[in-house]
Amino acid sequence: MPEACERRLERGQLTSGIPVARRVRGEERIRLVQAGQPGERVDVQIVRELLHRSGKATDRSPRTARGRNTIAPVEIAGPSLLLRFASAGDVPDLFRLGADPEVTRFFSWGPYVSEAEPAAYVHRLAGERAQGIRLDFLIVRDGRPIGVTGLSELSARDRRAVVGTWLGRSHWGTGANRESKTLIAHLAFAVLGLERLGAYAEVRNGRSQTALEHLGFQREGLLRRWHRHGESVHDVLLYSWLRSEWGRSELARVPVQVRGEPPPAFLLTPSAFPKPVSSGVVPS
Ligand SMILES: CC(C)(COP(=O)(O)OP(=O)(O)OC[C@H]1O[C@@H](n2cnc3c(N)ncnc32)[C@H](O)[C@@H]1OP(=O)(O)O)[C@@H](O)C(=O)NCCC(=O)NCCS
Repeated sequence: MPEACERRLERGQLTSGIPVARRVRGEERIRLVQAGQPGERVDVQIVRELLHRSGKATDRSPRTARGRNTIAPVEIAGPSLLLRFASAGDVPDLFRLGADPEVTRFFSWGPYVSEAEPAAYVHRLAGERAQGIRLDFLIVRDGRPIGVTGLSELSARDRRAVVGTWLGRSHWGTGANRESKTLIAHLAFAVLGLERLGAYAEVRNGRSQTALEHLGFQREGLLRRWHRHGESVHDVLLYSWLRSEWGRSELARVPVQVRGEPPPAFLLTPSAFPKPVSSGVVPS
């Protein structure tokens, strides 16, 4: 954010009033918005940073003074799949896909037993996107959701995140995993500027391990007692795919279309890299 804007933000003057006030619900954001001059125009990216700093950001599209959306939530389209954010209307499909115990066998959650579970998941997503905790997408084929893929464990400073994917069982072995990873890798490396995509696979999940290895992920080692599912604790294999490896892979040449913009918390702008503080005891 330019310095002049930062000063205005501190003085409570950096607001656009009209566009933002309509779309925010949190009290703090409304207060900031109301401090602005009516009719003042502010760069949309600055408004998004402002909302992000308030800690209550949403990634819904800011609106212009005339009420039109100016920024759409990010969507990634490939030859046969679309990655888009889930909404409440997707709950029945998510329930159907995630109610299969084979699908969730190696997860800490599931199988779903009621629609309230995927509904709670969908409800959490916007907040998790805004806070940089999780950036999950529905994998959609021919207009129907077939699974989920997404990024978590984002480290903006180190430019890395972890990718995780699950598909309804009838979509295993159909190429959907490969294409969905192609799309999320494009987002991670080409759009967000990540350096490394990590991935976990439970030691007994041979299918997931082979799938990762066929895509080009390198096995790095065993994480002992890494995941806890209820009372059981599991060893997990750690994989990674680096930006340079992706760049040499044929997957980087698959035509991919990105529409809209990622949530600000996942955009690795210079402000995402604070100056290192030398008081830590852990080498970093
Ligand atoms: C993991 C997942 C996304 C992979 O997608 P997929 O479509 O099944 O993967 P692919 O078919 O592309 O690749 C799987 C490979 O593993 C092989 N495989 C199948 N069972 C296997 C086993 N028990 N051990 C080792 N390899 C196995 C398949 O033959 C295939 O290899 P091939 O391409 O040479 O035929 C999907 O299986 C899934 O959703 N599983 C449930 C959720 C899950 O475990 N997610 C991973 C979290 S770590």
